[in-house]
Amino acid sequence: MVVALAELDVDLDAAEERRARVEDELVDVRSQLVAAKVGDAAVLVRLPDRDELVAPEELHRDAAGGLAALGVEDVGGEGHRSASYSCLVDERERFLIRYAGSFAPEPIARAEGAWVETADGKRILDFTSGQICSTLGHNHPRIAAAVRSALDNVVHLNSWMLSEPVLALGERLVGLFPPPLDRVLLLNTGTEANEVALKMAKMHTGRWEVVGLTRSFHGLLSGIASVNFSMAHAGYGPVLPGAFAIPAPYAYRCPVRHCEGACDCTCLEVGFELVDQQSVGSLCALVAEPVLSAGGIIVPPDGYFRRVRELLDERGMLLVLDEAQTGFGRLGSMFGFERDGVVPDFVGVSKTLGGGLPLAATITSAAVEEDCYGKGFLHVTSHVSDPLPAAAGLAVLDVIEEEDLVARSAARGEYLLSRLRELQAQHEPVGDVRGRGLLVGLELVEDRESRRPADELGAAVTRECYERGLSMNIVRSQAHANCFRIAPPLTVTEDEIDLAVEIMDASLRAVREPAAA
Ligand SMILES: Cc1ncc(COP(=O)(O)O)c(C=O)c1O
Repeated sequence: MVVALAELDVDLDAAEERRARVEDELVDVRSQLVAAKVGDAAVLVRLPDRDELVAPEELHRDAAGGLAALGVEDVGGEGHRSASYSCLVDERERFLIRYAGSFAPEPIARAEGAWVETADGKRILDFTSGQICSTLGHNHPRIAAAVRSALDNVVHLNSWMLSEPVLALGERLVGLFPPPLDRVLLLNTGTEANEVALKMAKMHTGRWEVVGLTRSFHGLLSGIASVNFSMAHAGYGPVLPGAFAIPAPYAYRCPVRHCEGACDCTCLEVGFELVDQQSVGSLCALVAEPVLSAGGIIVPPDGYFRRVRELLDERGMLLVLDEAQTGFGRLGSMFGFERDGVVPDFVGVSKTLGGGLPLAATITSAAVEEDCYGKGFLHVTSHVSDPLPAAAGLAVLDVIEEEDLVARSAARGEYLLSRLRELQAQHEPVGDVRGRGLLVGLELVEDRESRRPADELGAAVTRECYERGLSMNIVRSQAHANCFRIAPPLTVTEDEIDLAVEIMDASLRAVREPAAA
């Protein structure tokens, strides 16, 4: 049986042409157990119980419960020139809808702190904090205790019933925000928190045009996805009318070809000129991440949001800050908006509030809340104001405070940046290292002169790191996938950072100079 691995999308025509050249090329490795090669117009897979390459017919036979069950009758020859093969770690994977390309090679059985572990004991350093949610590390005992207590008391309620954890979390959150932000709605996902902010902004202003930044990401359901400009527009039908993009302050690749290395906000001024000329007179709000994450860890220059605030105020527009990833310490401050001293009209928090549980919140002012309430604002969902995730959120806030994780994030972030800059000094393809706190990006380029994105290198280094026990995320924005997003838990130790940098160094060497490695 094929026990491990991988999805191979192999164009066999191309493979044949390249056969001589790629005889020894590793095409796709998604676990330590299995390697795959493109050979003579066929895919050869190394089986875990037998360290050899097998012919397609044999693969077919061996994987009878896998490939055949997937309906792949023959993996070679004419008529099957392009095929997608999956040899599954667990055959039950085929019952799942694939929502973001393929899955990781092995299911995870346990997780603790900065580490996840497979069923057979392979330990992987998780430098994405799960989906950038586990800021306290995985399975923090305080979160586990909070969930246990909710299980003993109350898990879920009718949406109009309140509970102690919900009331306590509302009060606690308001204590963290500056006035006039003193009203909270507890939800489940970041998408929802942003969507609610925009719904309320529209109801409050009576207007509906919304501005976002290119390379932004705010969630994948239709409303909010209209102002996601990094991905996910193609293929799903119309987006909402009145969604405008302004160029992101991406100093390394200035979108208006003006700055190099340091953004002077020309992109922002140009962006608002474009917005003004396109608007039908219904400008409502601008939504932005304090540091653009999925778009490639783009750090706006100091003062950027102060200027945004002025431009919005001139137009009577509201500011929605999406702090899904940046809230509660990741940037080395409690919230990203503190940097410029601006007060947004809405803040969306999510991932980092639940410590791994689905918890999110929209925060706004009493004036907005009362106005919307008076107009009949409706956002009732099955799990709005649920007690169990709220209990987890309280535990997260307790631990952040008790363990001084905000200051720790700032200090560890500096350390991580300095270690990555050492790596940059040794590897030509490390074109840029940037970030704030423990949200750091490392951009790979073909050479520093041209700055051409090194997409293939990015994919190869990601695989190599995973093989060596480091999980990192390469962000995919528009056509390119060359920027690592590095976001370990705020509890990460210097030793763990050193280990991750060692693995990245070894992986870069192995991929760039395979013979020497
Ligand atoms: C900045 C930002 N906003 C919103 C979201 C959407 O959050 P969720 O996936 O919880 O709906 C994400 C998710 O990655 C995000 O990174």
